[in-house]
Amino acid sequence: MLRRTSEHGAEEMALTGIPEGFSRVCLGGIGVEIPESFICNEELVETYNGWAEAENAARAARGEEPVPLSSAEFIVQASGIRRRHVYERNGILDPARMAPVIPARGDDELSVMAEFGLAAARKALAHAKLEPNELDLIICSAAHHQRPYPAIAIEIQQALGAQGAAFDMGLGCSSALAGLHVASNMVRSGAYRRVLVVTPELITAHLNFRDRQTHFIFGDASVAAIVEAMDHREERQGRFEVVDTRLWTRFSNGIRTNFGFLSRLAQEDPYLLEMHGNMIKQMGNKVFKEVTLAGHQFIVEFLGEYDHTPHSMRRFWLHQANARMNAMILKLALGENVDHDRAPLVLDRLGNTAAAGAIIALAENHEDMKAGELGLLCAFGAGYSIGGALLKMM
Ligand code: COA
Repeated sequence: MLRRTSEHGAEEMALTGIPEGFSRVCLGGIGVEIPESFICNEELVETYNGWAEAENAARAARGEEPVPLSSAEFIVQASGIRRRHVYERNGILDPARMAPVIPARGDDELSVMAEFGLAAARKALAHAKLEPNELDLIICSAAHHQRPYPAIAIEIQQALGAQGAAFDMGLGCSSALAGLHVASNMVRSGAYRRVLVVTPELITAHLNFRDRQTHFIFGDASVAAIVEAMDHREERQGRFEVVDTRLWTRFSNGIRTNFGFLSRLAQEDPYLLEMHGNMIKQMGNKVFKEVTLAGHQFIVEFLGEYDHTPHSMRRFWLHQANARMNAMILKLALGENVDHDRAPLVLDRLGNTAAAGAIIALAENHEDMKAGELGLLCAFGAGYSIGGALLKMM
């Protein structure tokens, strides 16, 4: 483990701005795992509308209000999403089920979420040219966790054959950035030398495909990043130095899930799992407006702490929820429209992959950056929560 010792002292602080005894931090490796299967808007809407028509016939017979129909044109126009990759396609397009079929695994088998996280973790290790036994800590930070315990991170630790410790955490769609914030500060302080942050987002598993407001939004993806300590004079060509990270939170019910261990106790039969009302809910338009303003303010204030403005960023890897929202945040921040080279989009083909989205945008769009150029990784979501990382290409 890294200790707060420094051979160069004050000279180093003058050179880097980092207090004596604290480490510089870099992103040593990034891994992305995207499932092969995908579903386009037209297929999703056909299933939803097929279900809605049958549901409406039943509702009419009961004298109830019909549910509204969905539209593929609306989805692209409102969100920019054209398709989403899914961990398991089987079941989602079946109007009688409208949820992926993911069979239960035995307690002695590798769990689904750990397996998904491992795939990204192994890619991040290969990218960082590290062996699992060189990690000191593993954090699994995701919007949803398969179970409260034993921690998914500990299962990943065991499957990798890593030492040290591991724990789970989550902060909605800001989970990966919150994980990077914790990891970077732990590494900077000298508590750990190398931390793996894994974010397996199996979000279609918690999605209500019978809710027109949200059925089209999410896709599945798993990402991992390795946060490493660096020597004060070290330069790792083609890797990012993590200049700093920030987190912001304010309570809101705009995006909410009520699923938890108390859910069953509100039911008549507490031994029957009733999901109705216990899946993701979102007040899309309210969230859009409130998070656009908060996101813009966060970006300007965070960069301002370093005497930067949004204009000094070569690239923005923003949360991938809504193309219009990202365009608006950046227009507010920069006073002009920003193209996809400056602010890459992956949501058109992947949907909103919760906390994985911004990291995928980063992984796919950084190799052309020159030494010294800056970029901002920024995700926002439930809580509300916003996480940012100011990155400098070495
Ligand atoms: N198909 C067709 N019409 C739909 C529809 C669908 N699937 N869903 C909603 N509509 C209708 C609404 O009923 C409404 O009709 P009305 O004007 O007659 O009342 C109209 O389309 C506009 O709905 P609205 O909810 O205002 O759409 P929007 O422009 O806000 O877009 C989202 C909806 C979800 C795409 C958008 O609000 C969003 O992306 N929000 C932010 C999400 C986010 O960032 N979350 C945080 C991270 S997870």
